[in-house]
Amino acid sequence: MEVSKQYIAGSTLAIMVGDITEQHTDAIVNAANSSLCGGGGVDGAIHRAGGPIILEQCRTYVREHGRLPPGKAMATDAGELPARWVIHTVGPVYSSDRESKPILESAYRESLLLAEQMGIESLSFPSISTGAYRYPLEKAAQVALSTISSQLRKGSPLRLVRMVCFTERDGLAYKRAMDKIVQSP
Ligand code: APR
Repeated sequence: MEVSKQYIAGSTLAIMVGDITEQHTDAIVNAANSSLCGGGGVDGAIHRAGGPIILEQCRTYVREHGRLPPGKAMATDAGELPARWVIHTVGPVYSSDRESKPILESAYRESLLLAEQMGIESLSFPSISTGAYRYPLEKAAQVALSTISSQLRKGSPLRLVRMVCFTERDGLAYKRAMDKIVQSP
């Protein structure tokens, strides 16, 4: 269910309520942890629905490059998922705005930059860090949407970026954040 949509410099930024594992965008983003070994929440759902190839490629990455630091992003195949790629990023465990906001901004920005480098045209994000990592929802929504919209305003090759919220409550928080950004970008 789509709750909001904005056109930004030739791209669409949409907010919807749904399950990210069902999205047919070129790639979906995973809110992972630095070990890339899977977990609960959206991470668990993506690994379950995508199958073992995702974990295999994550393990190879960690063997070759080490753990993925918070705010960085890497990509794997998407296995059985309808998307072609999974971009794994690590959000901050919320401590304070001063410490956590730059890391959350970086998680969104690095995911978008990697998608652009890979020639991806459509991408779905979950609400990074607002579950197990306890980032306050309203603040996280503001950070997510302002980071995505400023990247799209630069003239991104991404045609569609979708925020996929798991609950209606989350979807409404993101819609309110979007309304604020539209009023004063
Ligand atoms: N589709 C979309 N969103 C989902 C789905 C899904 N299938 N499942 C859960 N979510 C939502 C949650 O409701 C929450 O709003 O994803 C958001 C992020 O919550 P978490 O998955 O807990 O992610 P995060 O807060 O970033 O914590 C990351 O949790 O699972 C572990 O391995 C992960 O250790 C890492 C930590």
